[in-house]
This record gives sequence, structure tokens and C-alpha cells, in this order.
Amino acid sequence: MAKIIAGIGSSHVPAIGAALDNGKTEEPYWKRVFSGFEKSKEWMAKTKPDVAIVVYNDHASAFSVEMIPTFALGCAAEFPPADEGWGPRPVPVVKGHPALAAHIAQSVILDEFDLTIVNKMEVDHGLTVPMNLLFGQPKDAWPCPVIPLAVNVVMYPPPTGHRCYMLGKALRRAVESYPEDLKVVIFGTGGLSHQISGPRAGLINSKWDKSFLDNLSKDPKKLTRIPHLEYMREAGAEGIEMVMWLIMRGALDDKVDEVYRFYTVPASNTAVGHIILENARKASSTRKVAGKSKRGSAGKSRQAAARKSIHRIASKGTR
Ligand SMILES: [Fe+2]
Repeated sequence: MAKIIAGIGSSHVPAIGAALDNGKTEEPYWKRVFSGFEKSKEWMAKTKPDVAIVVYNDHASAFSVEMIPTFALGCAAEFPPADEGWGPRPVPVVKGHPALAAHIAQSVILDEFDLTIVNKMEVDHGLTVPMNLLFGQPKDAWPCPVIPLAVNVVMYPPPTGHRCYMLGKALRRAVESYPEDLKVVIFGTGGLSHQISGPRAGLINSKWDKSFLDNLSKDPKKLTRIPHLEYMREAGAEGIEMVMWLIMRGALDDKVDEVYRFYTVPASNTAVGHIILENARKASSTRKVAGKSKRGSAGKSRQAAARKSIHRIASKGTR
């Protein structure tokens, strides 16, 4: 079966993409940012995922204000880089994984999360910048297929952190019910604290960001209780992008191994945060053997029953 083995959190600052595209990575200002991702690229090259699910937000590139889906899953075979005003970024076309994406759409929607299915979409810096930071700058092709999941954080009301976290759990159930053996990684992107306009433009709150990263690693449920207003007040108007990291975190084990973290300020006008979390496979197998609590078993049986019923409905629908 397919398995989510790790989650990656990363800012997706557009100026990072511009620095890459214009050969500025060795300039001292940008070297400080890019040097924080060297270990991440090594980790990714070693991990060699078969598929990446990238949770990001579209910045009025694929969706205008005329239509903004809350959660949009990219089910197409490919996703060209969007023209964000100065031509498409010089990065390879992102290849999708239509079979797994269709399976995720079925599983997650029947699991009562109403995703928008997108069969044609261009992707902007929100997706391509984190790809560069973790996969480098391939000329012809990205090293693995990608399933984009676009989240509305640009027009009120965005989804709550709790909803995002629960969607992560539904994504995990979807991936784990896919029969092919695939190593899947999931990205949560955006943030960290920043505000790009208004009297508080330039706001960065490192203390709040670092506490977010600590809790993301150790106590993500605490983060699910943060209301939108707190993100706005503490992390700036665009800091709300951080709810997308909770989709990634929800798709992982409750206990994870934090294998890498990087934080620097600023990049452009934004705090750059990055984290790599691996599912604690050893710990989870120990828990499986040692901890067959009544509550755990009952929860698992309920999930199994729900999955069976989902598949019954799904197979009836395809007859
Ligand atoms: Fe963004």
C-alpha cells in the first residue's frame, strides 16, 4: 500500500523564486536563505519519494476572485508553471499522478471532505518555490510526480486550522488505501509571519513563529485551536497561510521525529520557516505491540467499518 513517510513545511516566498531564476543564490543576502536548505536537499535525494502531495495556495494565478475553491485537488496529468506577471518561471512542467489523485478525491470526498476536483490548472510560486528548495533546479523534469492541493487563504473565510488538520488525516486514510506500494511525502507551504500591506506591512514575529514550529512538532493539536484572528494579530495578514502546514501535520503520526529545522528572517518581507518531520516508524510499531488500548482499538474498528462502507458505495457507483 502507499504510505506517507514524511512531512515538509516550507515558506514559499516569491522573491526566493526570483533569486533562483536570476542567479542570485550566491549573494550574501540570499546565501543565508539557501544555505538553510542544503541539508534538506540531501535528505530529499536520499528519501527519493515516489509522489509528493504539495499543499499550497494559489495567488490569483489559476483562480481569480471570481471563483475560489476552499480545497482544490489537482487531478491532471500535468500542471504548467503560471505566468505571474513576468512570464512563467523557468522550471519544468509539474507532472501529476492522476491515478492516485483520483483515488484521493474519491476517498476524501466519500470521507465527507468536499474537495474541488481540478483537471486543468497552472501552478504558481506557492508550489514551485518549495519544490526548488527541496529538489533543486532540475532542467528537464522534477524527480517525482506531484499532486497539488490548493487551499484558499487569500479571501475570507479561509478554512480553520482544525479543518485543515482533519483533512490531513483524511488524506492519510486515502493514501493508505491505495493498493500500489508508493513512498509519499507531503508538503505544507506558506508563511511564516508576514504582512505585505497596510500600516503593519513588514511585520515579522519570530517568537510566535518559533513557538508554532515547536508545537507543530510536539503538540499539533494545540495549534488546531488557534483562531484566525490570532494568526492575523500575531503573524500578520498573510500569516494565515500557516494553516496549510496543519494539513501536512494531520497526515503524519501523532508522534514524529523532527529531523531538521531552519528559520531565518527576512527573505523579502517574510520570515522563512522550514521543518522536516518523519513518521516515527519505530515508535509506532512499538505502540502497536504495547498499546492496544480499548479506545485505540474501537477507533480503528470504526475507521475500518467506514472505509469498508466507502468502498461499497464506490464500487456500486462504478457498476
Ligand atoms: Fe503565499
